[in-house]
Amino acid sequence: MAQIFITGGTGMIGRALTHFWRKQGHTVWILSRSQPKQGVLPEEGLLRGDPCQEGDWLTRLRECEVVVSLAGESIVKKSWTPKQKEQIRQSRVQSTALIAKTLAETPSQVKVWLSASGIGYYGNYEANSTEFIEGDKAGSGFLAQVALDWENATQPERLSGIRVVQTRIGIVLDRSEGFLPIVSRPFRYYLGGVIGTGQQWISWIHIQDLVRLFDWIRENPALSGPVNITAPHPVTHWGFCQTLAKQLHRPCSFRFPPFLVKCVMGEKAELATHGVRVIPQKAHETGFDFRFPTLPEALADLLSSETR
Ligand SMILES: NC(=O)c1ccc[n+]([C@@H]2O[C@H](COP(=O)([O-])OP(=O)(O)OC[C@H]3O[C@@H](n4cnc5c(N)ncnc54)[C@H](OP(=O)(O)O)[C@@H]3O)[C@@H](O)[C@H]2O)c1
Repeated sequence: MAQIFITGGTGMIGRALTHFWRKQGHTVWILSRSQPKQGVLPEEGLLRGDPCQEGDWLTRLRECEVVVSLAGESIVKKSWTPKQKEQIRQSRVQSTALIAKTLAETPSQVKVWLSASGIGYYGNYEANSTEFIEGDKAGSGFLAQVALDWENATQPERLSGIRVVQTRIGIVLDRSEGFLPIVSRPFRYYLGGVIGTGQQWISWIHIQDLVRLFDWIRENPALSGPVNITAPHPVTHWGFCQTLAKQLHRPCSFRFPPFLVKCVMGEKAELATHGVRVIPQKAHETGFDFRFPTLPEALADLLSSETR
């Protein structure tokens, strides 16, 4: 059984990973800047500390075989003011660079480091059907630059003997948190609709497949460098809305012009009006078996307890 250390482990993805690995019998240590809400995670294994600042927690991290770094200021919760954009970038780059420095300069038990990144790496487009795979270059724009700096901060060339994987995570679909509850709310109230032309791509993944794919990477020595964490069948925003409406037995009647979304959300609106089509080539090549490869299967599972 492995000792696993997770920064940002109190978040949506970290909690799912912790639950999965603890159930398998692994020991999971979680770093948090604050005391998480009661009942969200068991106290056991929780360490207090800031992932951007040196602290005693780095001693524990060095004693683990597996490190997963997920810490980062939310890109969704607040408006993208210049200060907030810097916070989004800095929280990821600084916390990642600190782990890289520690592992490069001090001996450790660490065998594999899964460092989060995002599919924003490839750029964000209004309508572009190009299929992006791991070998493709970074795109342009704020999110692409953040992802590029974030990945560069892992400095794998300094970490001999440690397998470093940059997990380029797509839009994670979870029953109660993140993207899905937000987009399904208007549909439930018969106010669902498509934003813009609907040709922007949504490269999604079911949270269960994300967790299984992280575990697959942990165990598979053939995987290193960037790995796309997305389902094999991305959809357009239009396709997503149609599938969601059908699943919820609601109409998809409206069309929201992008300028309206921008008026409400500001620059952050690009999260809704733009997207990217990403294919999980490395997962395919290594034989990973997706439990939810298509959106209808994923939504049928995630919305299964919904009332009509
Ligand atoms: N969810 C998605 O669809 C998705 C898609 C692509 C990429 N990702 C990336 O995957 C990672 C995990 O995603 P998630 O959805 O689990 O995120 P999340 O729920 O927002 O959790 C992120 C964690 O990072 C820590 N954090 C927040 N602000 C921070 C700051 N300013 N400095 C240092 N730590 C901070 C928090 O832990 P404490 O408050 O306990 O310290 C928080 O629990 C993120 O980096 C995210 O960008 C997620």
